[in-house]
Amino acid sequence: MQAKTSDKAQKIVVLGTGGTIAGLSTPEKGAGAYVAGQKPIEDLLTGLAIAPALKGLTIQSEQVAQIDSKDMDLPVWQALLRRCRHWLAQADVRGVLITHGTDTLEETAWLLQALLGPLLRELGKPLVLTCAMRPADAPDADGPGNLRDALQVLVDPQARGVLAVCARRVMRAHAVQKVHATRLDAFRSSGRPDAGQLVDDPAGAGGLAVRWSPVTDAQGGAQHAHDVVWPLEAPAGALESALTVSAWPRVELLFSHAAASGAMVHMMCDADLSRQLALPPLRGLVVAATGNGTVHRELEVALERAQARGVRILLATRCTEGGLKAGMRASADEGAGFAATDLSPVKARLSLMLDLLDGH
Ligand code: SIN
Repeated sequence: MQAKTSDKAQKIVVLGTGGTIAGLSTPEKGAGAYVAGQKPIEDLLTGLAIAPALKGLTIQSEQVAQIDSKDMDLPVWQALLRRCRHWLAQADVRGVLITHGTDTLEETAWLLQALLGPLLRELGKPLVLTCAMRPADAPDADGPGNLRDALQVLVDPQARGVLAVCARRVMRAHAVQKVHATRLDAFRSSGRPDAGQLVDDPAGAGGLAVRWSPVTDAQGGAQHAHDVVWPLEAPAGALESALTVSAWPRVELLFSHAAASGAMVHMMCDADLSRQLALPPLRGLVVAATGNGTVHRELEVALERAQARGVRILLATRCTEGGLKAGMRASADEGAGFAATDLSPVKARLSLMLDLLDGH
């Protein structure tokens, strides 16, 4: 029996994974230089000014990893999934907060939603990720503010599912996307409004309050946030498989672009080359397609050949707004057509991996 959230849930668990939020400057390497993933999570929380909504709650931290998130990999994801599942199942835990690098935050957020979404709905608990664009020792570091805001979102009674908090925006895992390389407000909710915002407390108490946007279904009807089941969450058995296998199915990602060819597809499908590179055989290919899901004709021929040989092909758009309509797309030349998703290409890759992992 899993422990649902209750009045007894007086603890918050913060899991550190590294990133710029835990980065430290390296002035000897030049102005603005730093190394991500240095400062322990416990130190990031020490002396943090917390919102009144957090008063009386215990904050416990755990260092799951200490990396630059560009190097995120399967063992770290597995460790994170295990620790999230463990802590969420405790009756006294209200929710879990993860500190993460900005560069692959959207991938981890979607992975957690895809695999832990059903558990979070069952327990009625949220999982929040936060990050920073400036290192922890910068005089104007944005990490402490983001951390404080993320904790406030985590304890908000309306917080559900996997959320990302950065620069006062609250974004759902399905939509969050890093859209700017340097500015503090680096994320957007692709193709939909943010889940909410941190605004000046309307009660005038001087702090911040979470203002939630209405959650709408595909037809635009309002839904309560509890009920959201995102398309392409992983199949039921995927969590156990994801935690136990030593390698996930190989799914590669490529772009369709002007003057594209089928060369990359041929190389990726080449079994001898895969063996030489000590790679498992290719199981799936996500194509960041042009516009509304179109693919260069040369690439399309190669993709059809790969699909006929059993490689799963999934189209996503390379546009940051207006995801593709999910479903099958006819091919331009009477071929079998390809499946399409409204997820961004990097998230589509995860979903296809999880689908293949579960034996589909
Ligand atoms: C990282 O993603 O770990 C480094 C960059 C960042 O956090 O902004």
